[in-house]
Amino acid sequence: MEEFRNPDYKELNNTIVGQAPTMIQIKRNIVRLSKSDVTILISGESGTGKELVARTIHKLSPRTDQPFIKINSAALPTNLLESELFGFEKGAFTGAFQKKPGKFELADSGTILLDEISEIPLPMQAKLLQVLQDNEFSSLGSITDTKIDTRVLAATNANLSEMVCEGRFRSDLYYRLNVVSIHIPPLRARKEDIGLLCQHFLKIYAARHGRDHTLINKRTMEQFYQYSWPGNVRELQNFIQGITVLGDREGLYEKMGNNGPVSVFLNGQRAARPGSTVASGSVTRRSLKKVCKEATRKAETEAIVNALFHTRWNRRKAAALLKVSYKAVLNKIKEYGIEARYGELLKKE
Ligand SMILES: Nc1ncnc2c1ncn2[C@@H]1O[C@H](COP(=O)(O)OP(=O)(O)OP(=O)(O)O)[C@@H](O)[C@H]1O
Ligand SMILES: [Mg+2]
Repeated sequence: MEEFRNPDYKELNNTIVGQAPTMIQIKRNIVRLSKSDVTILISGESGTGKELVARTIHKLSPRTDQPFIKINSAALPTNLLESELFGFEKGAFTGAFQKKPGKFELADSGTILLDEISEIPLPMQAKLLQVLQDNEFSSLGSITDTKIDTRVLAATNANLSEMVCEGRFRSDLYYRLNVVSIHIPPLRARKEDIGLLCQHFLKIYAARHGRDHTLINKRTMEQFYQYSWPGNVRELQNFIQGITVLGDREGLYEKMGNNGPVSVFLNGQRAARPGSTVASGSVTRRSLKKVCKEATRKAETEAIVNALFHTRWNRRKAAALLKVSYKAVLNKIKEYGIEARYGELLKKE
């Protein structure tokens, strides 16, 4: 079997975890395609591992010692995107005090990943196509062309062929990018990989946080198999990290179901529910007002931590999720001491 003889597979199996037939085929394609310079379009839902696949292709390629440069097309407005991709000369526009190389130039001899390619505005699509066809470009303000030897990979979680039909993406660029495609299926379509992925992440996070290897019980694993993982491998990874750091307790997975988001419970305790929030022994000794205040504090802290966990400490996005103002979230974070208690976990990756 090719898989046993080729050392690339050992490297691959340590980085891209998965034995589902579709993943085995993807790994075979990665090994084969990494040796050529062909342009590849990598598609798949968010969190399925598109960037991981792109980085692995680069790593297994003859370009491995050269740079791997990623550009996120969605993050930048058109004019900035152009200068990010192609750079500019000194004096090209007001404020261009010195020459700045673009990502294509930085990736010369290496690989460039055009991430979220569907977000590239139409005028930029034309320029990009030209660069891909001619292997040369001119930076802003330059009168000469620069030759480049950059391998191009593109990633998308949108349906590009549909966008072509709707006139939102240039068909010629689509065909130029889509010389070969790798489609990564969502995690719900390869549930047999969930167990392996859990082991993989448990090992990583136990080592990283100096914790014992957490064991996941049978009932929980069954829930994992039933859950649809809309955030795919990234969601599973975040969840395992949460278990490792915050601790696994009974009821930790209770909220998990196809109707709601995965929730990380603080201190392994359940979310506060109306009427069942406080340990019964202590209720009698406290005023109803105080009981209410504590329950609110606990439930709000949990909701905010969950939102920050899912948005990776993006407080604006967390505020949107919680349907409150940004300022309200900032105040609560301060009031409940969330940054001091959970900041280290929530701000990671
Ligand atoms: N098969 C896999 N084995 C191990 N880790 C994986 C696998 N697939 C994804 N991951 C991990 O999951 C996380 C998300 O993967 P990645 O960033 O590549 O996804 P993506 O498809 O680019 O997502 P997005 O569309 O949101 O950018 C990363 O930390 C990655 O290492
Ligand atoms: Mg990505």
